[in-house]
Amino acid sequence: LNFKGWANHCRALLTGHPVISRAALGHVDLKMDQALLLIHNELRGTNLTVFWNSERCYHCLFQVLVNVSWSGKPGKPSIAAVAVSTQHGSLLQLNDTLEEKEVCRLEYKFGEFGNYSLLVKQAHNGDNETACDIVVNKNPIDSNLRMYIFLFIYSLDDFHNWISKAINSRETDRLINSELGSPSRAGSIGGDAQLEAWHPPAASPRLRCVDTFRGIALILMVFVNYGGGRYWYFKHSSWNGKIFFLKVLLITVFFSRFVFIMGSSVFLSMTSVLQRGCSKFKLLGKIAWRSFLLICIGVVIVNPNYCLGPLSWDKVRIPGVLQRLGVTYFVVAVLELIFAKPVPESCASERGCFSLRDIIFSWPQWLFILMLESIWLGLTFFLPVPGCPTGYLGPGGIGDWGKYPNCTGGAAGYIDRLLLGDDHIYQHPSSAVLYHTEVAYDPEGILGTINSIVMAFLGIQAGKILLYYKDQTKDILIRFTAWCCFLGLISVALTKVSENEGFIPINKNLWSISYVTTLSSFAFFILLILYPIVDVKGLWTGTPFFYPGMNSILVYVGHEVFENYFPFQWKLQDNQSHKEHLTQNIVATAIWVLIAYVLYKKKVFWKI
Ligand SMILES: *[C@@H]1O[C@H](CO)[C@@H](O)[C@H](O)[C@H]1NC(C)=O
Ligand SMILES: *[C@@H]1O[C@H](CO)[C@@H](O)[C@H](O)[C@H]1NC(C)=O
Repeated sequence: LNFKGWANHCRALLTGHPVISRAALGHVDLKMDQALLLIHNELRGTNLTVFWNSERCYHCLFQVLVNVSWSGKPGKPSIAAVAVSTQHGSLLQLNDTLEEKEVCRLEYKFGEFGNYSLLVKQAHNGDNETACDIVVNKNPIDSNLRMYIFLFIYSLDDFHNWISKAINSRETDRLINSELGSPSRAGSIGGDAQLEAWHPPAASPRLRCVDTFRGIALILMVFVNYGGGRYWYFKHSSWNGKIFFLKVLLITVFFSRFVFIMGSSVFLSMTSVLQRGCSKFKLLGKIAWRSFLLICIGVVIVNPNYCLGPLSWDKVRIPGVLQRLGVTYFVVAVLELIFAKPVPESCASERGCFSLRDIIFSWPQWLFILMLESIWLGLTFFLPVPGCPTGYLGPGGIGDWGKYPNCTGGAAGYIDRLLLGDDHIYQHPSSAVLYHTEVAYDPEGILGTINSIVMAFLGIQAGKILLYYKDQTKDILIRFTAWCCFLGLISVALTKVSENEGFIPINKNLWSISYVTTLSSFAFFILLILYPIVDVKGLWTGTPFFYPGMNSILVYVGHEVFENYFPFQWKLQDNQSHKEHLTQNIVATAIWVLIAYVLYKKKVFWKI
């Protein structure tokens, strides 16, 4: 057992990433993403209080950074040393401690491991003016982020080339073809109604794009979960997410992708099983059992609890990623099971088919989903939460000028705390660091599950398009484009293209509806690209992402469980270097791709 790794993990979990640490001059231990700031107080007879705030913290109260008293001797400034966060721009405000009057205020973006001085002194020209100037004593290290991203993409590419060369491509193609068409697979129900690994019967088109997409999502998720080189933009957003491309690209890598893709797989596999005349009742039993297993595995892997001492029922965390996946799967699968109609044979020449048949044939499902969404909107905006404004969507803590410290997540947080209890939900939400939230809040809570069901249903829609318009590439692409634009427009309207000011901001912690529409829009876009390349033209076989996509449950559970063990983690020479973390995370991710590849070759798939 790797106790050292656990201990580090616990410390990180329990304390969060330290944004600011205070220390005496010369004893400031700088961590990753920090700079040294020396504050020189040269104001005669004035004691200063320095307040700090992150530029990214929306409507936040300023936090006391340090007090710098007057040294008592003119010409000899008193100096205080602090570590400041370099992840985002800093806002500094200096007040006269006694009179509580603002002396000056400035904005500055510090660089990692830099050494800066803030000189506060009487200005020469004005009589009572104060000058606050920042002087760079030592330049920050050149943590050239763009360079690293380039390296990352480059190494992925290299890996791809390497693996393609390592395996004879014609051999792979033969293998895959025989795999997909294999009669033993097509014959058994268990093999076909896979939750994650979908094997189309010989008659269906090859839909590698779905598995490839899932593989890409999974591999990015593993990389980000492993720390993503500890860059802030690979971390879960503190509260609302920003709509710029990089961020959207990166928040999409979390399991949201998964939910969407799961939706399409569910529909595709269930249709093929029903077509073969399997009884609905039997299928229902299978769906229930599979959801139950997912939830159980989920509870086990989110509760290692080594941080809080021995495992105890009093502190078991109930919600989690796989739990939500299980519930979502159950709801959408049962919904499709109840209302599923046989997919009409190709309609190309018949008159009786509408161009919207993928939607019209499933109007009861749509009705149900719209009802669910109304429930989400109703609860989120109209449920009275004691001590909090109704319809609150903010992070609580010091956000919103510190007015609602215990309102983290508004109705979503309240429902979880009420139904599950404070002790049974996630204790260290990602907003804890920036917004200093104190109450527990679970990003995989109950209310958000409604929206993950909506998202999975949009994924089912993608599956329906692929199946209803089989072999009509143009029809499929038009529909993907239309959905991509439609969902994108909804997001634009809901968020007003702003991070925090919209009606419903994009928020991963709440799984807000704008989050769902933005990610789904993006998902349709990716399918729009992947489908023609991977399935229609066969230009790319989906290597290497296809392999983890075929074994996603195994890779997901494996990467969570073995996170702190050797080849995935080792002792870094410099624990505060992004470069070493990045190397480690890339290697760990690559190993999972390799494992998935080996298992694929050996035809080992983890089915539940
Ligand atoms: C930072 O710069 C100041 C002024 O040049 C110097 O006295 C101090 O030793 C430096 N601190 C570190 C940790 O480099
Ligand atoms: C928030 O909760 C803490 C501890 O549960 C309590 O001490 C504090 O008074 C609460 N604050 C407000 C504004 O309700």
